Amino acid sequence: MTLTTSPLDVSAVIPVVVIDDPAHAVPLARALVAGGVSIIEVTLRTPRALDAVAAIAAEVPEIALGVGSLLTASDVDQALTAGAEFLVSPGASPALLESLVAAAVPVLPGVATVSEVLTALDRGLTELKFFPAGPAGGPAYLAAVGGPVPQVRFCPTGGVTPDNLRDYLAVPGVAAVGGTWLAPRASIAAEDWAGIAAQAAAVRGLISG
Ligand code: 3PG
Repeated sequence: MTLTTSPLDVSAVIPVVVIDDPAHAVPLARALVAGGVSIIEVTLRTPRALDAVAAIAAEVPEIALGVGSLLTASDVDQALTAGAEFLVSPGASPALLESLVAAAVPVLPGVATVSEVLTALDRGLTELKFFPAGPAGGPAYLAAVGGPVPQVRFCPTGGVTPDNLRDYLAVPGVAAVGGTWLAPRASIAAEDWAGIAAQAAAVRGLISG
């Protein structure tokens, strides 16, 4: 499936997931959709992550499928081949940025400073991951970084939790937040699909409430 909107407009919360067993990928994606969160970022942090991406691409077309933790141009190629509909990176080397700019899908390169934002803007990229949001300085720091660049939309991740996500969403320029708490690696490994669906539904309540 092709994303017809920015991933930042699909959901105000993007689950960032670590999948050890590709057999978990499809039930996980279906649990998120059942809970009302139709987007997922599968991180390339496990040996079988690309198999998990391919399984979701084949069997859960209704979820917006992102691949994250991209570090190299080769990672970008492999993610696209596996079926990624959007791409996320924690930061960006010149070569990785080049490859993201060339991709025919939405991309969210990671930034943590004003200079990194300006480097991305130079390449025409206006939607960025802000990482690691908490250790970098939290909502106040992000508000300061975003001040001079009102044309940029941010997705902070790294230390975002149900307790602080509304503080991040209140920062001008923040269009969505991401994090692993919604579908933790341990819950995925334990096949707690009902728990993950309930957590997704609870998060939706937090956002709309
Ligand atoms: C990411 O890659 O976006 C982060 O590792 C997510 O951080 P969290 O585990 O603090 O949510």
